[in-house]
Parts: sequence; C-alpha cells; structure tokens
Amino acid sequence: MSSSKTALITGASSGIGAVYARRLAARGYNLVLVARRTDRLATLATELAATGNITIETVTADLTADADIIRIEQLLRDESIDMLINNAGMGPAASTADMSDADAAATLALNVTALMRLTRAALPGMRARKSGTVVNVGSVLAFHALPQSTLYSATKAFVLTFSRGIADEVKDDGVLVQAVLPAGTVTEFYESAGMSIDNFDPSIFMTAEQLVDAGLAGMDRGEQVTLPSVHDENLWTSYDAARAQLMGGTQNGSPAARYFEPAAGKITPVA
Ligand SMILES: NC(=O)c1ccc[n+]([C@@H]2O[C@H](COP(=O)([O-])OP(=O)(O)OC[C@H]3O[C@@H](n4cnc5c(N)ncnc54)[C@H](OP(=O)(O)O)[C@@H]3O)[C@@H](O)[C@H]2O)c1
Repeated sequence: MSSSKTALITGASSGIGAVYARRLAARGYNLVLVARRTDRLATLATELAATGNITIETVTADLTADADIIRIEQLLRDESIDMLINNAGMGPAASTADMSDADAAATLALNVTALMRLTRAALPGMRARKSGTVVNVGSVLAFHALPQSTLYSATKAFVLTFSRGIADEVKDDGVLVQAVLPAGTVTEFYESAGMSIDNFDPSIFMTAEQLVDAGLAGMDRGEQVTLPSVHDENLWTSYDAARAQLMGGTQNGSPAARYFEPAAGKITPVA
C-alpha cells in the first residue's frame, strides 16, 4: 500500500457507503471496500482507481456471518487502518412479531454485532498509533420507533449509545468516534427493506452525497454526533441536556414517592 492513510468501509457497494468511498478517495485515502456484492465493489474499485494514486482492495463479506466478521476483524488488527466506516446496515420493514426469524437475527447481527466487533478490532491499533477515526452510521430512528421499524430503531439506538460511550473511552488517545445519524436519504435501502421510496414524502429526503458531505464536515469539526438533517442545532443540545438531567435525576437511592402515595382515582401499591 502507498504511504497515505487507509479507510475500511463496510457496505461500500451502494448508497452512503459508495459515496464515502468516492469522497475518501478524493481525500487521498487508500480504501478497503467491504460488502456482499462483489460485482458492485469491483465496478466501484475500477472507477476510483482511475481517479488517483491510491490502492483499493475489495473484500466480499457477509457481515451477518461469523466467519466473515472474523476475516474483517483480522484485517483490522493486521493492517494499519486509519479510518473505519461502519456503514453496512439493514432494516426490514415489518413489525417485530411478523418479521421472519432470519431477518430479525440478521438485523441484529449486521447493525449491532458486526459494528461492535469491527469497532473493537480497530481500536487497539488506533490507540497505539494515537490516531484514528471510527464512523458509525446510525439513524435518526435511534430516537424513535415506528410500527414497522422497532427492531431497526432499537439497533440504531445501540449504535448511538455505543458510539458515544466509546468516543469518551478513547478521546484522550487521539481517536475520534463519530456517530452519523441520517434521516431520509435516497439510496437502495428502502427497496432492500421491502418498501418503495415513492411512498414517502420526497421533501424529507436528501441525496447520499449531501449526507456524506455533511458527515465528513461534522468529522472535520470533531463532532461525536452528527445530525446532517437537523438545521436547528439547539434541538440536539436541549435534547442531550434533558437526557443528562434525567440521568442525574435517577441517582437517588430510593423509590419515588408517587409509587407509594395514594393518588386520586388510582390504586397504588403501598408496600
Ligand atoms: N437511506 C436512508 O434513508 C437511511 C436513513 C438512516 C440510516 N441509514 C443507514 O445508512 C447505512 C447505509 O445504508 P444506505 O442507505 O446506503 O442503503 P444501501 O444502499 O442499501 O446500502 C447498504 C449497504 O450495506 C451492505 N450490506 C447489507 N447487508 C450486508 C451484509 N449482510 N454484509 C455486508 N454488507 C451488507 C450493502 O451491500 P451488499 O448488499 O452488497 O452486501 C450496501 O452496500 C445503513 O446503516 C442504514 O441503516 C440509511
């Protein structure tokens, strides 16, 4: 590999991941592109190889399969990877009870287990080098579960909480962990999930290019949480302040009085 930095991107075969690949190639990064669709990865690698003096490796891997996660973990441990973009994700549109067992297991395996394992594999090298970036692509559904998105929303809540915690764990080691939380973004995601993007209000969608450019701008600002579609930054700061205040309000060591005092019109336990 050349002497420039290297980024490993999961889910690089389409959508947001493919745009990250294009943008990071333009920034001079060598690339390791990971996804299941070998043909898509090869086409993208050919396109990007023509754009500059970078090396591009493609790795066909199903990140719901333990053996394939192990291969990528090994790569992250053996090679000097400066940036990990945990972008691969899925969200079958179905209520949790109606979803197939296979889809439910795959959603957890990809959105949670693979992201957690690859992050853990990447961090020791980054900490030792005192430099590195992990980008975890979450979703604004981390804040909200819709009837057809409960499991997906819960996995993205994991991504947000995990990313924020890890970000604090490694911030003094020169490593940035950034959660990027897209809202509606025009990609193949909806068709893969079994929905048509045409069923949504088009005004809620941005392009994958806009999303990634905002994500990279947030990274350049050193943000731990980037919300590309949120125009009023106070919405996030007040939400997070309320979260911290609630957490503070939990540290009391005794049950709240409302669970013990009779309330008008209600039967409440007294012991
Ligand atoms: N689009 C949106 O509106 C939106 C909103 C919020 C969050 N997001 C998040 O953005 C991320 C990227 O999604 P996208 O919108 O760019 O959709 P996309 O175009 O469908 O891309 C998903 C990527 O994940 C890869 N992938 C899926 N299953 C995989 C598996 N088992 N193993 C390895 N790779 C796998 C796909 O590649 P292969 O099929 O080739 O494996 C593809 O490259 C996801 O984490 C998604 O949750 C998207």
